[in-house]
Amino acid sequence: MSHPAPLPAGRTGDPPLEATLLAALRAAVGPSNVLTEPDARRGHETDWTGVYRGIARAVVRPRVTAEVAAVLRACSAAGAPVVPQGGNTGLVGGSVPDPSGRAVVLSTGRLRTLDPVDRASGQVTVGAGVSLATLQDHARAAGFEVPVDLGARDSATVGGMAATNAGGIHVLRHGTMRRQVVGVEAVLASGDVWSHLAGLEKDNTGYDLAGLLCGSEGTLAVITRLRLRLVPALPRRVAALLAWPGVGAMVDGLASLRAEVPGLEAAEYFVRAGVDLVRSVFGEPDPFGRPHPAYLLVEAAGTTDPTAELAAAVEGLDEVLDAAVADGPTPRARLWRLRELHTEALAAVGPPRKYDVSVPLPGLPAFVDAAVDLVRSLSGARPLVCHHFGHLGDGNVHLNVLGLADAPGEDVALVDGAVLGLVADHGGSISAEHGIGRLKRPWLHLSRTPAELAGFAALKGALDPAGILNPGVLLPG
Ligand code: FAD
Ligand code: MLT
Ligand code: ZN
Repeated sequence: MSHPAPLPAGRTGDPPLEATLLAALRAAVGPSNVLTEPDARRGHETDWTGVYRGIARAVVRPRVTAEVAAVLRACSAAGAPVVPQGGNTGLVGGSVPDPSGRAVVLSTGRLRTLDPVDRASGQVTVGAGVSLATLQDHARAAGFEVPVDLGARDSATVGGMAATNAGGIHVLRHGTMRRQVVGVEAVLASGDVWSHLAGLEKDNTGYDLAGLLCGSEGTLAVITRLRLRLVPALPRRVAALLAWPGVGAMVDGLASLRAEVPGLEAAEYFVRAGVDLVRSVFGEPDPFGRPHPAYLLVEAAGTTDPTAELAAAVEGLDEVLDAAVADGPTPRARLWRLRELHTEALAAVGPPRKYDVSVPLPGLPAFVDAAVDLVRSLSGARPLVCHHFGHLGDGNVHLNVLGLADAPGEDVALVDGAVLGLVADHGGSISAEHGIGRLKRPWLHLSRTPAELAGFAALKGALDPAGILNPGVLLPG
């Protein structure tokens, strides 16, 4: 389908609902912020992976909360689905419309207010469309740091990060996005505005609506502003890349590092196949000049230099095969490139089928072995290859299966069910940090009980009774 399907006409004599909707949207945000031309819509219709492609009836770009409310009132009146979209870096297909051409994409890119950092409380109020990198610069200028960090920092927005409850590389020290959100402003499908931005650390006045919206993936409300906790910027930091004989040895070693390096901020793992891939796509140098089976990238930070502490802890690790320590920004960035380029390298040879999962840490080595074997056993005419890397400190494994790009839907579903079933068998979660989106929607029952899913449906029914917010995402149909 190349054009949006028209909405049904209204009462005889009324202008068609389509024209009414577009007129209301133009009145809400100004004509230049209602994009209907295919070229203007295109970047908003395909997700970062390129796997999820749809058609938007229009892309609207509100600048302030009142405009978001007017957009939602107009879409509610027309029964038009709304897809909230931030930086469009999501990896589960939740940020783009379906192919029906009925949905309006509500882009938060112009919701960019950035209040001064409140140094006394260590908090900041920020528009949902502000990118993580912009917020990081803003916080650092005031001597603070944003507790959550991730590779898509230049494009991912704080609204999207809250809506997905993003994790990233510092969860072992600071927790996920939900833990940083102390207040929220959001617009419901009705156009009603929830505003609770005072940032009171003590505020026991009923339900935690901000927490509820974290991880809601645009299905309950459009987040317009957030009150976020910051942490003091730590001036001294050191990273180390440690080579190991396998994943099991790394998990054991991580226990010692956690105990002996209080400033530990990150513990990220990858394996040789990932290094080979990143090197082949980006030409990165081999970190040790010789191959090793597995790698752990750790970073520690403090008010005093943590290098000696980290070096002493590494010294005590029997199974480390090689170690490279980097204490300046440039060598640290070089080590981080090896880890953070995994996603782009896989996309370059893919697209891969992405399974972002978590399992209890002690069982992680057995899980990754089982997953790699399972995927291999499911190979058909074309071999399937299972890459894995992730946030070891959080038990978060990113399984990426190559070889399914052109496979028929039923073959892909077979692999999805087998892999995610294996996760459930290992006591894990089918989504660690990316969310459910469209990708994992059929499999939510593997991680949530019928009673929990009934609770989800009741919440959805109460807050979005007509179901216009991001239909087809997160909630089982
Ligand atoms: P989008 O992709 O635009 O949207 C994501 C979801 O949130 C959609 O369901 C959308 O409808 C909803 N949404 C967006 N904005 C709002 C809003 N204001 N109100 C309500 N709903 C909204 N994720 C991690 O957790 N950890 C990582 O380490 C990580 N690394 C990444 C690295 C790369 C290279 C890439 C491409 C992605 C990575 N991601 C990671 C995934 C992605 O960056 C996160 O999910 C991020 O939180 C999405 O933010 P966004 O602004 O791009 O949201
Ligand atoms: C990461 O940790 O690099 C991201 O979550 C992206 C990915 O899973 O590819
Ligand atoms: Zn990740």
